[in-house]
Amino acid sequence: MSETSFTPRVFSGIQPSGNLHLGNYLGALKRFVDWQAKDVESIYCMVDLHAITVWQDPKDLQKSTRELCAGFIAAGLDPEKSILINQSQVPEHAQLAWVFNCVARMGWMQRMTQWKDKAGKNAQNASLGLFAYPALMAADILTYHATHVPVGEDQKQHLELARDIATKFNHDYDVDFFPIPEPVIEGAGTRVMSLRDGSKKMSKSDVSDASRINLTDDADTIAKKIRKAKTDPDALPSEAKGLEERPEARNLINIYAALNGQSVDQVLADVGGKQFSEFKPMLADLAVDKMSPITTEMSRLMENQDEIDKILTRGAERARAITAPILRKTYDIVGMVPPVER
Ligand code: TYM
Repeated sequence: MSETSFTPRVFSGIQPSGNLHLGNYLGALKRFVDWQAKDVESIYCMVDLHAITVWQDPKDLQKSTRELCAGFIAAGLDPEKSILINQSQVPEHAQLAWVFNCVARMGWMQRMTQWKDKAGKNAQNASLGLFAYPALMAADILTYHATHVPVGEDQKQHLELARDIATKFNHDYDVDFFPIPEPVIEGAGTRVMSLRDGSKKMSKSDVSDASRINLTDDADTIAKKIRKAKTDPDALPSEAKGLEERPEARNLINIYAALNGQSVDQVLADVGGKQFSEFKPMLADLAVDKMSPITTEMSRLMENQDEIDKILTRGAERARAITAPILRKTYDIVGMVPPVER
């Protein structure tokens, strides 16, 4: 199966479960904007069906979905160039997911670290949707025949599973129908860590708000969180290998590099030898400079929710022009009788 026989198409998604943070921005959103500049057809999705695999208050879910859409646009996605959608408005995602539930194996799902982390010791009480989560994710991607999927490092295992599902489907039905999608995990921002603990990833579910920079934080809050970020007493090294045993220092340097569009080596060439007392204000200024316009634009867009809803409706129409024929063809391959045209 050649991976190049499909037209390049990008798909990625973010859960609208609140607290959009710097990790989501650097690991995903900012990179979506870079892809948009490459003029490849791209679809970016607010995955509300994924969000409800754990409890979501309905009102909060609506607000977070619109806020996420505002975040996409404020970060630089143009709804004319990229297709922005809310997953539940494009029914082919859930429909193809059912087919994939019948392709994926229980054992594959059980091995997923996210399933193990989220269900924990209480797996009997977790939702069936949480278990099947990666099959829906594979459907998100493959219902567009997407070939490239920019994500943060924590999604790597799910992407491998999507590849396994595409491969098994093609093999079982003896077709060359689904592309084998490529995860694109590149740059310094693909694993942003907590500001309080350099061994834990920055996460929307961390109880400490000081552990993350939210896209809704104002300039003062951003600066304060960076000033208070955990560090060590040593000066910054001049080379990347000097960061190896220093997770907090490495994290702050990675954040600086990703925000400034530089490599870690370039940043260290400039700041090597400096103390954190000097580097932290530099990072705070940079973060405020890059994030504040996004925050301001997000809240401006949130004042006009009708506009956001229209963008999502239009996005779903454009998306369905791609997904409906792919789903129909999938059903044909599987052996489902098509409706007759009348
Ligand atoms: P979610 O909503 O947890 O995260 C959205 C994106 O942000 C990235 N990310 C991070 N990157 C760097 N550092 C961090 N600390 C950090 N935290 C989150 C994630 O890697 C992701 O790219 N299952 C997905 C959503 C999804 C999806 C898809 C993604 C559903 N269907 C299809 C790609 C393709 C998720 O929960 O992401």
